Amino acid sequence: MDERIWVAGHRGMVGSAITRLFCSQGRNVITVDRSILDLRKQDEVEFWLRANKPTSIVFAAAKVGGIIANSTYPADFIYDNLTIQTNVIHGAHKAGVDRLVFLGSSCIYPKFAEQPIKESSLLTGPLEPTNEWYAIAKISGIMTCQAYRKQYGRRYVSVMPCNLYGPNDNFNLETSHVMPALMRKFHEAKVTSAKEVVVWGTGAPLREFLHVDDLARGVVWCHDNYDEYEHINCGAGFDVTIRELAETIARVVGFSGDIVFDVSKPDGTPRKIMDSSRIRALGWKPEISFDDGIASTYRWYLANIDAKNRAA
Ligand SMILES: NC(=O)c1ccc[n+]([C@@H]2O[C@H](COP(=O)([O-])OP(=O)(O)OC[C@H]3O[C@@H](n4cnc5c(N)ncnc54)[C@H](OP(=O)(O)O)[C@@H]3O)[C@@H](O)[C@H]2O)c1
Repeated sequence: MDERIWVAGHRGMVGSAITRLFCSQGRNVITVDRSILDLRKQDEVEFWLRANKPTSIVFAAAKVGGIIANSTYPADFIYDNLTIQTNVIHGAHKAGVDRLVFLGSSCIYPKFAEQPIKESSLLTGPLEPTNEWYAIAKISGIMTCQAYRKQYGRRYVSVMPCNLYGPNDNFNLETSHVMPALMRKFHEAKVTSAKEVVVWGTGAPLREFLHVDDLARGVVWCHDNYDEYEHINCGAGFDVTIRELAETIARVVGFSGDIVFDVSKPDGTPRKIMDSSRIRALGWKPEISFDDGIASTYRWYLANIDAKNRAA
């Protein structure tokens, strides 16, 4: 049968990187814009699946955001994510699609999970309160894949990425994650000759960042080879403090003012790094260094700055 891989969420950071990689391998990717198919509409999703007959699905569509977005729009985060993933996974099963890769996130592990976080830590403790609605939805998505595997033998798997960055990231300060938010803040401080940039929290939390093109290689590998009940971690394997992140971005951007840490703002989880030994043992490893990844992302940001700053 001819391959027809539906990358859901192909315009997002993750979906676009996966689409680029599949296309560079000469593989047949099908996509549909949100303006044509809103994944929250169950009937329309099922109709589209029957009509377009994908042979597999990489599910990179989600409502994604940082601390402000999560705490301002908890209803949207839980409703959109539960709805779109249930529609796509159930619709895939009904349409006879036997292969699906779902994406979780390291931020859905328990707040105080033992570090580095193993796959088995999921659901072993309280969640990070600032994103618990998103986390509950994503955990449900992983378990939905497991349920369809258990009941129907579907080869649905889940990949758990750490924090990602790279081309097509969201640089809107209201909704973005820490890496693009800092990049935009430092860039704007440089061009306005501001004396300082304020960074939320103490700067002490440790975070793991992976370039999205490395993640795409992991996801495509899992699409082709991984077929187990348990989700699989896909992380960089090293972490940096928020202070180190800010200093690296300031250096790459060329900002020479002060970096001020606003300790009245929350730090979130103290440390978050995943144990990615399982996927490494299977042959995947990251190829893009932290400095190179930040430098190339900043070049991308400069080339796309108007479009990204307007993005809602
Ligand atoms: N970004 C990270 O650091 C990170 C880390 C770990 C895991 N992940 C996971 O990776 C996946 C993708 O994240 P991302 O960063 O690529 O997010 P993103 O850039 O915001 O992309 C999300 C995509 O989902 C689409 N989408 C959302 N709601 C939709 C709807 N109702 N109907 C149709 N399409 C819809 C968006 O369409 P439009 O473009 O039309 O809005 C967009 O293409 C998520 O599952 C996320 O949990 C991301």
